[in-house]
Amino acid sequence: MPLPTVDENLRAARPCLWVNPARVEADEALRALPIHLDAIEEAEARWRRFAPLIAKLFPETAAAGGLIESDLIPVPHLQRAMMGGSASGTWLIKGDHALPIAGSIKARGGIHEVLEFAERIARQHGLLDKAADYTVLAEPAAREVFARYVVAVGSTGNLGLSIGVIASALGFRAQVHMSAEAKQWKKQRLRQRGVEVIEHAGDYGEAVEAGRRVAQGDAFSYFVDDERSLSLFLGYSVAALRLRDQLRATGIAISSGTPLFVYLPCGVGGAPSGITFGLKQVFGDHVHCFFAEPVASPCVLAQMSYPERPGITVYDLGLDNRTDADGLAVARASELAVQMMTPLLSGIFTVEDDALFRQLALLHESEGIRIEPSAAAGIGGPHMLLDTENGRQYLADNGLTQCMSQAVHLIWTTGGLFVPDEEYRAFLERGRRLLSAT
Ligand SMILES: Cc1ncc(COP(=O)(O)O)c(C=O)c1O
Repeated sequence: MPLPTVDENLRAARPCLWVNPARVEADEALRALPIHLDAIEEAEARWRRFAPLIAKLFPETAAAGGLIESDLIPVPHLQRAMMGGSASGTWLIKGDHALPIAGSIKARGGIHEVLEFAERIARQHGLLDKAADYTVLAEPAAREVFARYVVAVGSTGNLGLSIGVIASALGFRAQVHMSAEAKQWKKQRLRQRGVEVIEHAGDYGEAVEAGRRVAQGDAFSYFVDDERSLSLFLGYSVAALRLRDQLRATGIAISSGTPLFVYLPCGVGGAPSGITFGLKQVFGDHVHCFFAEPVASPCVLAQMSYPERPGITVYDLGLDNRTDADGLAVARASELAVQMMTPLLSGIFTVEDDALFRQLALLHESEGIRIEPSAAAGIGGPHMLLDTENGRQYLADNGLTQCMSQAVHLIWTTGGLFVPDEEYRAFLERGRRLLSAT
């Protein structure tokens, strides 16, 4: 009997690995895209201009000079726990689960976009004319100007957390439209900071649309558009420059003989595509990026595998978009993400909720690292690549089979720092129960 196709697995909500047939060589792809390395470097320069202000507003970042960055962590015990005797190569985690301020990967894009907006308003009002020192933006004169503006966003939770926290810290009025699956504790955390949280009964797309409508036509409202924003995208992309330096510092040189495989949890697609864009700029064809989506919400996979159906949703495939990976519960992909990823992305795999909890527990038991369910989506990536028909075919087609003992597998863990203890205990118990049943 022939094996089920990716499309059959996708519609049946069975885990699968899809390999992107539209990917081309990195040089060719990057030349044809509308933005380039200089745009990432500009975003990085903006982060650096704001670093003293960030250090002042968020003392927890002072030791890092106000830069919001995460550790690169070797995870040999997780590697053994996941792969047993067949473990080869080097496994690393990029620990965005512990990113300060927002506790998730969404800090990279979300905070960047609010900083860019603040910089523009400050310049328009002459607040930065003479002063190169951005800490003046914490002074009453700047806060009085910022208080005239509303910064709005639609979110499944984590983008709202990052936008809400930074916007209110700068003195903006912040308004977050939350979709149905957003966790109560995330809403509470925002409300404690004076952020207006508007709860919607609908899905993420509806929350975004509601926020967009409210902000439209109001010169004092700024809407952060997770489905389309270039500023978010570039904020995420800076991670690649930081990762390049971190790998260098650990003595790992990525090359044709030491390829880098990166596994990124994916919701609307903004964060993983921004990072992939950056990584392709830095490592070219030596990096292979794979997104991880829940079996019930594979919106980027749906759009990339059906390019002739723009705007396709997971509902159109008979899926229900119900997942415990709240950050990844998105029915329709970002157009920008799909446009940028079509020539660059290696593939996408899907993950069942039970696997998220098993992986969350395994990471805790093996390495003592604490993450939220969405953030566990990438952990099964090496298995998908090494132990499935499609994965092995990808390695063979790209001449990689022989160098896998030297490969670097980088699992991006994307959220978890602020999960309340009680919630985390319940995640862990579910994961442990599932592990002991297998
Ligand atoms: C923990 C976590 N990981 C990954 C993502 C995926 O980011 P994106 O929706 O930009 O694809 C999200 C999105 O909110 C998230 O909360």
